[in-house]
Amino acid sequence: MIKIAVAGCGYWGPNIIRSFHSLQNCHVQMVCDLSKERLNHMKKLYPSTKTTSSYEDLLKDEEIDAIAIATPVRFHYTMARESLLAGKHTFVEKPMATNGEECRELIEIAADKKLALMVGHTFIYSSAVMKIKEIIDSRDLGDLLYISSRRCNLGLCQQDINVAWDLAPHDISIILHTLNQMPVSINCQGKAHVNKKIEDITNMTLNFSNGGFATIQSSWLDPNKVREMTFVGSKRMLVYNDIESMEKIKIYDKRIETPPHYDTFADFQYSYHYGDSYCPYIKQQEPLLVEAAHFLDCITNGQTPHSSGKEALEVVQILEAASRSLQNGGGQVFVDSKYA
Ligand SMILES: NC(=O)c1ccc[n+]([C@@H]2O[C@H](COP(=O)([O-])OP(=O)(O)OC[C@H]3O[C@@H](n4cnc5c(N)ncnc54)[C@H](O)[C@@H]3O)[C@@H](O)[C@H]2O)c1
Repeated sequence: MIKIAVAGCGYWGPNIIRSFHSLQNCHVQMVCDLSKERLNHMKKLYPSTKTTSSYEDLLKDEEIDAIAIATPVRFHYTMARESLLAGKHTFVEKPMATNGEECRELIEIAADKKLALMVGHTFIYSSAVMKIKEIIDSRDLGDLLYISSRRCNLGLCQQDINVAWDLAPHDISIILHTLNQMPVSINCQGKAHVNKKIEDITNMTLNFSNGGFATIQSSWLDPNKVREMTFVGSKRMLVYNDIESMEKIKIYDKRIETPPHYDTFADFQYSYHYGDSYCPYIKQQEPLLVEAAHFLDCITNGQTPHSSGKEALEVVQILEAASRSLQNGGGQVFVDSKYA
């Protein structure tokens, strides 16, 4: 039985608590938040779980094997560092820290102490993303030409990070997971409307060494909730709409073929290939539950998490490059690989 504690019971923390609570080989020993109101609410839901407003209580409780951190991003590094130094396996929400140096230090401490360090790149644990990776790896789409991703909604505006740091970790982690390569450079433009210091809309481009590229639009200022990614291949195209409940992935047998020769414009039209479209079967399972179970497996078996410190660092390196690009009006910034 793994005893876990969760710090942060705001919007997302309760989902993490619920997930660990529902797993057989785990007991949620203690939860922590600065808000008494949130703690009272958690106590009503989970009477056998202790509550505290002091993070110190989690660190010094020798029965606790692991700590999951779901506080605002500016606290991630300090809390994760303290957790690892206290000998606890550590799960940190995305993004793992505010810069590459902090990520590197957490990776080193976890390695020294032989502790699991995992980041909440939740989407890589979703059946849809697993299926997309399988399809791309099988080369069913042909050569991947580009990826276009949009993640938009109205709010929840954060106070300490811009929309790219808040929403794009999902898109970036999916892109890195499916392509299995890091971009060489980033361009990012954005605008701050609601809070004049924090961008609420950003457009990021990831440039890969093989000429491929991916674009990510992130917005807290959109009337519609959009979670859509398009993967355009030389043979087929795939659209992943995470808002759909059942048919999240649609594959289009569409492409442009250059005809060997053509005499008229009408002939040229035939170079567009329109085939069938279909939705592959996807197992219905909650990604967060799979993620939580994987963290427990990694603790038990000593295996490296699929979203380990390394993957967390890669996402943060891209976000850092995006921030530098934002500051110079969208110019190209090379991804700093000195920590890789
Ligand atoms: N993986 C996902 O899909 C996903 C989704 C949403 C949010 N998140 C991540 O979860 C984290 C939390 O986001 P949120 O939207 O729940 O934020 P939130 O502001 O709603 O909640 C944060 C909570 O942390 C508490 N807190 C702050 N400092 C603390 C401290 N020192 N000790 C204990 N508690 C403290 C606050 O009182 C608050 O209740 C962020 O890193 C965010 O990026 C992940």
